[in-house]
Amino acid sequence: MRRPFNVRVAGLAGLVVAMLARSAAGDGKAAAPRLADNGRAIRPLGSLGPVPVPPDNKISEPKAELGKLLFFDARLSGDVSTSCASCHDPRQGWGDGGDLSRGYPGTQHWRNSQTVLNSAYHAKLFWAGESTSLEAQANSAITGNLAGNGEPDMIEERLAQAPEYVELFRKAFGSFKPQYPDVLKAIATFERVAAVSDPGKVPFDRFLGGDAGALSAAAQRGRALFEGKARCTQCHDGPLFSDEDYHNLGVPKNPAFESDPQRQIALRWQHYIRGVDEKATYRSADRDLGLFYETKRPQDQGRFRTPSLRELAHTAPYMHNGVFFTLEEVVDFYDQGGGDDPQKDPLMKPLGLTAQEKGDLVEFLNSLSGPPIVVDPPLLPQYAVLK
Ligand code: HEC
Ligand code: HEC
Repeated sequence: MRRPFNVRVAGLAGLVVAMLARSAAGDGKAAAPRLADNGRAIRPLGSLGPVPVPPDNKISEPKAELGKLLFFDARLSGDVSTSCASCHDPRQGWGDGGDLSRGYPGTQHWRNSQTVLNSAYHAKLFWAGESTSLEAQANSAITGNLAGNGEPDMIEERLAQAPEYVELFRKAFGSFKPQYPDVLKAIATFERVAAVSDPGKVPFDRFLGGDAGALSAAAQRGRALFEGKARCTQCHDGPLFSDEDYHNLGVPKNPAFESDPQRQIALRWQHYIRGVDEKATYRSADRDLGLFYETKRPQDQGRFRTPSLRELAHTAPYMHNGVFFTLEEVVDFYDQGGGDDPQKDPLMKPLGLTAQEKGDLVEFLNSLSGPPIVVDPPLLPQYAVLK
């Protein structure tokens, strides 16, 4: 025991006070968990640990190198026009910089193109969390009609027609010929290696690591608000700043939805392929139903997965429909207790923040971003006519 004197003298009451103090500080080691209003234990904020890796897709240098080429290669898409990087450009914070995403030629997407930064840490992917691994997600992105619209057999043929790819697949997977499942594994490996925060460069992580000067006084006040009065850790907690749960915040509609026939087509088609009930919602729905598409439970309409808040400085605009362009707008939205929706999550409450408190909160949010994480577009393997 390190401090026998304290323990003996202070007794149980003193210990409890000390534990509560540590828990309130948020870096708590063995502190009693704080509970959110819905009874969920709030996990302390912290730095991200090593990236999770599935046992059947260990990280290796050749896989990551190959994955980088594939991420930038439009030959994975149906008409060889659209690569992952078309919508997840590292120079645009690994999104596309727009409010609603572009789509495969002839379509416009109906949601914001999410950043891929730190997706490797999420247990659920997409705005409504319907994919559970980067490998499965890459398959949806490559074959999905609004994204890559690609065809696995055709992709294998295209890759086999580029000798450099054949060699790179052999090095990475020991395969005789490029195989589609290995395409998914290589892309996922690239994302795990290249699209993750570096704790050495993120002010908040440096602060946690002992560099007291890494956070301004305003950012430190912002942190206290984040964990207290502003109620952000009710949903954004742990090292990823996400409870990985689903909530309806009443995010306002994006006017582009209303005015763009292409996006209306995408929305209605999404309703259709996701099996939304014809009478109840398909004809009348004029918005993104979120988690409801997966569960078909009425109470899940408008619920979305809590996103991470890391690297926000690079990933505007915000929310599933990109309706907010600045963090100031986001904070104003929360200050008002969120938007107008009969099914809004009861965790959303008006906050009564002062102008200075709002500024402090934004300052703290900005401390969760390091410098841009940029990967330059690589030179892609060329086709060759095979003998
Ligand atoms: C035409 C644009 C487009 C293309 C091409 C595209 N994506 Fe996306 N991506 C999106 C949009 C939009 C979303 C959010 C969709 C949703 O939630 O339904 C998304 C979501 C994601 C996510 C989830 C992020 C998270 O944290 O939940 C990942 C990972 C991702 N894309 C990776 C890829 C990869 C890998 C490729 C290439 C194989 C790719 N995307 C191709 C537009 C695109
Ligand atoms: C009730 C749970 C909940 C609370 C409380 C909450 N958030 Fe969120 N947050 C979410 C969800 C869910 C989304 C995505 C919503 C959507 O797109 O419809 C989100 C989105 C965001 C985004 C946009 C991220 C992006 O990548 O687009 C920011 C920034 C954000 N929240 C900051 C905060 C701050 C700051 C607070 C405290 C003032 C807070 N949140 C409180 C659940 C919550």
